[in-house]
Amino acid sequence: MKSFNYTEETLPGVTDISRELLEKIMSRKAKVGIVGLGYVGLPLAAEFARQGFRVTGIDLETRKIDLINGGKSYIGDVPSEEIARLVEQGLLRASSDFNVLAELDTINICVPTPLRKTKDPDLSYILAAVEQIQKHLHRGMLVILESTTYPGTTEELILPRLAETGLEVGRDFFLCFSPERVDPGNSQFNTRNIPKVVGGVTPICTQMGTLFYQQAMEKVVPVSSTQVAEMVKLLENTFRSINIGLANEMALLCDCMKIDVWEVIEAAATKPFGFMPFFPGPGLGGHCIPVDPFYLSWKAKMNGVEARFIELAGQINGSMPHFTVNKIQAALNDRMKSVKNSHVHLLGMAYKKDIADVRESPALDVLALLRKLGARLSYSDPHVARVKLADFELESRPVLPSCREADCVVLLTDHSSFDYEAIVNQSSLIVDTRNAFRAWRMEKIVRL
Ligand SMILES: NC(=O)c1ccc[n+]([C@@H]2O[C@H](COP(=O)([O-])OP(=O)(O)OC[C@H]3O[C@@H](n4cnc5c(N)ncnc54)[C@H](O)[C@@H]3O)[C@@H](O)[C@H]2O)c1
Repeated sequence: MKSFNYTEETLPGVTDISRELLEKIMSRKAKVGIVGLGYVGLPLAAEFARQGFRVTGIDLETRKIDLINGGKSYIGDVPSEEIARLVEQGLLRASSDFNVLAELDTINICVPTPLRKTKDPDLSYILAAVEQIQKHLHRGMLVILESTTYPGTTEELILPRLAETGLEVGRDFFLCFSPERVDPGNSQFNTRNIPKVVGGVTPICTQMGTLFYQQAMEKVVPVSSTQVAEMVKLLENTFRSINIGLANEMALLCDCMKIDVWEVIEAAATKPFGFMPFFPGPGLGGHCIPVDPFYLSWKAKMNGVEARFIELAGQINGSMPHFTVNKIQAALNDRMKSVKNSHVHLLGMAYKKDIADVRESPALDVLALLRKLGARLSYSDPHVARVKLADFELESRPVLPSCREADCVVLLTDHSSFDYEAIVNQSSLIVDTRNAFRAWRMEKIVRL
């Protein structure tokens, strides 16, 4: 096996401890642990189990633990049959008891990294997980942070806590950062075929992380430090946030000039180089794009630099639910109706198509704004049975009778399963925020 050949010359700093772990990883005998079994952690756990590793998932939510151990999935991209097979074969188990950490060789941390109300990073979940890992850290353990965070987190926050144990990084234990790029609902790219970037605190940590991911992923991209790996993720998500912000600003400008922004973007996208299409919409959603750029702007502020693009894109993207509501208001006014007391039926609550995730979904903002204006509201979402706002709750209703009854139908999430033709036929007025009705040119369809 390749790892037996590691010498001080081929891998500076290699010791018996690192050699032993490398061998366990390459022979798939390493016991893998995933802390946080959500949209990121469960697919990752399933992928390593599929590759023959014995994987233990750890989460605070006992509901998730019971579902996994009962062979059931709660994440759309991971089929229940797959979980059932892996559990039955003894390759996957879940637990809420952190004492299991003591038996593990590798630990991936996949816990949430939200923002506080002040838009500052909330690292409490990472710190809580690290506190548990610290108690059970032992020689020959590889710890990898996957949660999105600002550059410096791994070395400034995690390393000192793990080093308090007296164990030395790069010799006794190994510490890396590897950004998670999974895209829920994407049928082409998944945990296995999305290239994995990894950076370690020391060269041997990077080597350990690289070999670990190579067992389960098609391509691994090692980088020189944890800070580079942390920054890669923030560049990717900031790039998206800013470009979506530009598309949204274009939509606002085109609206004033009565130009079809969708036609403009589609025509611009025919340029074979130097242009990449991004599209406007009712606003940004999900756990990543609306949140992650603020991790970077916070860190920039700490260094006395202002991240102006990020703040601006955040403002424009954040204004889109208001713009959408203005469009609805104007469309109803054109028909001599006002939002107050009109029945507005919303299509889609998830933040993007074909998934069930409503975190930060702009549809919830549109819902709340319309409620404030006194609209009578209903919604349909095949993936979201119920939504809860601060002071009210709604249940998803069947699409067609609702579209027929409504004064205005608003397409917020372009789920594939909606019957667009039937919706057009049954609705008297449609506000389309996703260009989902591009095939129909009719006065009753108002585009963003
Ligand atoms: N969802 C995505 O598409 C996506 C994509 C790339 C990166 N990320 C990043 O990955 C990280 C995780 O995101 P997610 O969407 O999987 O979140 P999630 O909320 O779906 O899952 C996180 C899980 O961690 C558990 N948890 C919280 N604190 C814990 C603790 N101390 N110990 C054990 N478990 C704990 C929660 O119960 C939950 O099950 C975030 O930093 C996010 O920004 C998410």
